[in-house]
Amino acid sequence: MSVTSSGSATYSEAVEGSNAKRGLWSSRLAFILAATGSAVGLGNIWKFPYITGENGGGAFVIMYLACIAVVGIPIMMAEVMIGRRGGRSPVNSLRLIAERDKLHPAWKLVGAVGVLAGFLILSFYSVIGGWAVSYVGTAASGQLAGQSADAIGAIFSGLLSDPLTLLLWHTVFMALVMVVVARGVRSGLERAVSILMPGLFILLLIVVGYAMTSGSFGKAVTFLFQPDFSKLTTSGVLVALGHAFFTLSLGMAVMMAYGSYLPKNISIAKTSITVSIIDTGVALLAGLAIFPIVFANGLEPGAGPGLIFQTLPLAFGQMPMGSFFGTLFFVLLIFAAWTSGISLLEPIVEWLEEQKGLNRTVSTLGAGVVCWALGIASILSLNLWSDVAPLSFIPMLEGKTIFDLLDFFTANILLPLGGLLVALFAGWVMSKQAMENELSLSASAFSLWFVTLRFITPVAVAVVFIYNLI
Ligand code: PFF
Repeated sequence: MSVTSSGSATYSEAVEGSNAKRGLWSSRLAFILAATGSAVGLGNIWKFPYITGENGGGAFVIMYLACIAVVGIPIMMAEVMIGRRGGRSPVNSLRLIAERDKLHPAWKLVGAVGVLAGFLILSFYSVIGGWAVSYVGTAASGQLAGQSADAIGAIFSGLLSDPLTLLLWHTVFMALVMVVVARGVRSGLERAVSILMPGLFILLLIVVGYAMTSGSFGKAVTFLFQPDFSKLTTSGVLVALGHAFFTLSLGMAVMMAYGSYLPKNISIAKTSITVSIIDTGVALLAGLAIFPIVFANGLEPGAGPGLIFQTLPLAFGQMPMGSFFGTLFFVLLIFAAWTSGISLLEPIVEWLEEQKGLNRTVSTLGAGVVCWALGIASILSLNLWSDVAPLSFIPMLEGKTIFDLLDFFTANILLPLGGLLVALFAGWVMSKQAMENELSLSASAFSLWFVTLRFITPVAVAVVFIYNLI
């Protein structure tokens, strides 16, 4: 992310203290790229297809799209707006706005929920990022060529059953994230994202093209887009809601942090909608790439977290130049995961720097190593501890391993909770005049956003929560 140092358009005139040295994004495109870099990641390519498979397809997809529109986009706009108005790291932006508008200082805890969520998510995110790293070698060595579905499945189970190999790749992934965060996020990332994101998009299109000609494309389209609401459970609705937060990087103040670098003259609504559309597009493309292969090969759509690692390698093993495309695909997947991983670690490091006065290298090392160590619990849940389900006495969490619990607790509880607090803050607490200035929308567009955020978003999140609890 290159950030120019033109302090003139910052919010620093209005907030206490000078913020001019933080600089701003070089353009609207720079912000879109960075925010897309955070949003597009394993959530789109790894998680979306497998949770869609587990939750029965079409009806779940519609629920997820509705959550993006009604909950995701309004909250993304609110987060970016709060960030730009505060002009600081999330915790301090919230504190500044609260102080200036004479609000309760506890509002800064919204940022704290985010810091905790990012930390927990990165611990298992890095393990999955490690799978992608491992598959670069698998694809490049030609091991996938011409293999049967069973053989491809065996390669994947072989990886999961080997804690030391998983640890190695988890370590590599975490190190990649830590190196960038330690050196300061705002250099080089913008250029990397601007090449790699379109690259990933094109590669997904190539796999979709292959799936159209060689897979059961019609069946996949029916599965993805023809809703059968009898297949959607209440917990499926919670998963769809949680995923809307996870995939758009909401509820943990990442968009707030990025918004603090957004120049004043750029439309928050347009940029938020653009990022959300790109993110959703990548997820749907991933679905269209994977499900034709699933159906053509008689695989199980509800196979769980291993789904893409058991289906895409099959396609790469069969298509012309498959080893080349396969290697490239996993390299790009690593980059997508990398830019998201960076945005997961950044808030914790920023918080340690500001709050504890540690320097960037020490903060990164401290947070990164603890997160890495926590990742070991997720690795072990895939093999040695696969039967350990510590919270099985709670019916909803029955049979969930530590890895499953971390995913459930962050995506389905912490992120929606963080998002709910953001919605309440913007919808009920912050000065309406300030928000009108910040968003500069037409009166009707502002009202639409405001009413959605004030009433519909919190009610939707609360209803899904309460329904699931009972
Ligand atoms: N949005 C990322 C993905 O879909 O892979 C994951 C993520 C990144 C979640 C940053 C939350 C976050 F703050």
